Amino acid sequence: AGGGDQHIEDFDFSFEGPFGSYDVNQLQRGLQVYTEVCAACHGLKFVPIRTLGDENGPTLPEEQVIEYAKQFEVYDDDLEDFREALPTDHFPDSALENAPDLSLMAKKRAGFHGPYGLGINQFFKGIGGPEYIASLLTGYTGEEKEQAGVTFYENTAFPGGWIAMAPPLGDDSVEFVDGHDADLHHLSADVSAFLMWTAEPKMMARKQAGFAGVIFLTLLSVLLYLTNKRLWAPVK
Ligand code: HEM
Repeated sequence: AGGGDQHIEDFDFSFEGPFGSYDVNQLQRGLQVYTEVCAACHGLKFVPIRTLGDENGPTLPEEQVIEYAKQFEVYDDDLEDFREALPTDHFPDSALENAPDLSLMAKKRAGFHGPYGLGINQFFKGIGGPEYIASLLTGYTGEEKEQAGVTFYENTAFPGGWIAMAPPLGDDSVEFVDGHDADLHHLSADVSAFLMWTAEPKMMARKQAGFAGVIFLTLLSVLLYLTNKRLWAPVK
């Protein structure tokens, strides 16, 4: 669904294109934004906390992953009680019932559909999921309305134009440990990059395998062509 008036800004992400890769520092900043702001309402239930230490991810050192996990409480079926989370646990579910889980959101939504619904813009501008999330976070107009006791906020990226999520970010909502710029635009891009990683943690491996495949097939074509020539040479 969605009107044609939906506005998606084309953010430039480091992981776009056939050779693009995640920017580890950006993923770490995005994790910080997620943890300090989004986690109050949204969950990441499909993401194991231990993957924060994986290469091509935020790549946190092991002790930091253990420390990080401790801030969450999970229900342990064996203990029949709550306990501190361990790296082997997943991130918690959404804390707010009507806030969707964000694990796969960057692949669930597309920012670019055109032209004529062909999706060619995805090829030129990027896959569109992280652009959609970043545009959503920066797309508030400041208008609000109340409907059936629920407050809706006008947003230029949200299909339909009115979303039930209050603007979660503003300039400097988060102070980055690395001292990086924390205006609304940067915060939004960083958390969107992080959510792209949660949705597709193996993107780099996929691109590498794809590239190896292309090289292999190119080489194979050349060899087969030459073999063919040689085999038929005496006949011609
Ligand atoms: C919906 C991201 C913080 C409450 C959403 C959606 C995204 C998102 C991508 C889905 C929009 C769609 O369906 O297309 C984020 C990010 C946050 C954040 C990245 C942190 C920077 C929060 C916070 C709250 C919240 C702090 C609660 C106070 C909601 C609710 C919805 C929603 C209730 C459903 C809105 C609707 O369907 O109308 N959020 N969110 N979010 N979020 Fe957040």
